[in-house]
Amino acid sequence: MRLDKFICKSTELTRTEAKKVLKSGEVRVNGEVAKNAAMQVHENNTITIDGQVLIARGSRYYILHKVVDSICSNIDEVYPSVLNFIEVDKAFDLHIAGRLDADTTGLVLITDDGRWSHNVISPKKQCQKTYRVWLRNEINDEKLADLVTKFEHGLQLQGEDSLTRPAILMRVEKEDLVDEMSYRSEVLLTITEGKYHQVKRMFAAVGNRVVALHREQIGRITLGDLAPGEWRALTAVEIAQFL
Ligand code: URA
Repeated sequence: MRLDKFICKSTELTRTEAKKVLKSGEVRVNGEVAKNAAMQVHENNTITIDGQVLIARGSRYYILHKVVDSICSNIDEVYPSVLNFIEVDKAFDLHIAGRLDADTTGLVLITDDGRWSHNVISPKKQCQKTYRVWLRNEINDEKLADLVTKFEHGLQLQGEDSLTRPAILMRVEKEDLVDEMSYRSEVLLTITEGKYHQVKRMFAAVGNRVVALHREQIGRITLGDLAPGEWRALTAVEIAQFL
């Protein structure tokens, strides 16, 4: 990892403060003065500040139940970043492993381990993400059979080079939906990739419209009884599946 990141991980210093310390010449890597913040260092290097050996903290892994009108970004914009909910030191040094739109709710994974989040996000790793989707138009039995086949084979979304990867669609059976409801059907969709607005675009491509979206599961990790806005550290077993 970069030398400035290593310093942040092993001290209370921010990235800007770490860069200042580097400039001052107080940092040594294996005994040599190091001033380059971008220098790549490894755990077996001896890194010191003013003679004190640094030991990097282990990586951090959290799950958050995202609420609407919060954003999966490392800066606050129109809405606050989801990182504001994670009440730990240096929460803004963490990143989001698989973003959700501002109006989407549900499961968000947050970490500072880039390799781990790559394993969650990369389509090559085939990690399943399940969404509960509320749709404007009704899906009758005939339509459902057609959609299941189309989603399984893959859809051509506008502006994409390749078809969407095979996805699993299931209808959630409901009593008759009353007329005032803004949706006419509810489904569960499982995908293994995360193209821009993927779920909304998949349903738009088949003439429907997503009115609400909620992520329920990533791999074997579920929200369990986490209430909206709540978060917790992931367990060792939950972390291990993406190491
Ligand atoms: N697909 C979307 O369209 N939006 C999300 O937030 C997540 C997946």
